Amino acid sequence: MIHLISQAEIVSTIRRLALEIDRDYQDRVLVLVGILKGSFIFLADLVRELDIPVENIEFLRLSSYGSSMVSSGRAKIIMSPPPEAIAGKDVVVVEDIVDTGITTDTALRYLQNARPASLRLCALLNKPTRRQVPVKIDYLGFTVMDLFIVGYGIDFDQKYRQLPDIYYLEEEQQKQTYKNPNLVVEKNKVDKEDWEDKGDKGASLLRHRQNI
Ligand code: PRP
Repeated sequence: MIHLISQAEIVSTIRRLALEIDRDYQDRVLVLVGILKGSFIFLADLVRELDIPVENIEFLRLSSYGSSMVSSGRAKIIMSPPPEAIAGKDVVVVEDIVDTGITTDTALRYLQNARPASLRLCALLNKPTRRQVPVKIDYLGFTVMDLFIVGYGIDFDQKYRQLPDIYYLEEEQQKQTYKNPNLVVEKNKVDKEDWEDKGDKGASLLRHRQNI
């Protein structure tokens, strides 16, 4: 597992995204729609950085990948907000990663049918080299290469979502992990000096870098 994006970089990027959204949605009533499961951590951090009032937070769950490394080419809607939560609202869809674009495109089309006043997309990560369906990202965190990303809500076979940083899997590790579904991250491999005291928004928050 190779380290790609640190917590500090994620925090500062989310602050930037929140400022952009605050600026654009002043005097408007914002509804956020998180695409489950991957966006749950990003959405939780983003919403706490927003200064504008958020009227409602809804979730849309789609599934396309199963436990395979490749997209099945289809996105199925498993759970969706009630249409009245979307109709007439200024909606920002919150997505962890746009890869082929199939999931996000399906989500945006579905929500557009519910007639929001406006519909925009905020994505933490973009993998443009893999795109199959065009997707317009209005608020973007990072562009990444064609790597299998895990951490910060993003899984491989449902694992690794809990990692505070963003990593990518090496090819050999992908194979091993796939063969052994019980393989778990060795969370306790943390050296004492890796602990650091970070002051965030006045609060002293003890965090650690996981040494995986
Ligand atoms: C991942 C990710 C995005 C989607 C992007 O979700 O969270 O929603 O894939 O891929 P795409 O652009 O190729 O469609 P996944 O379907 O793995 O479900 P999950 O969020 O529950 O992990």
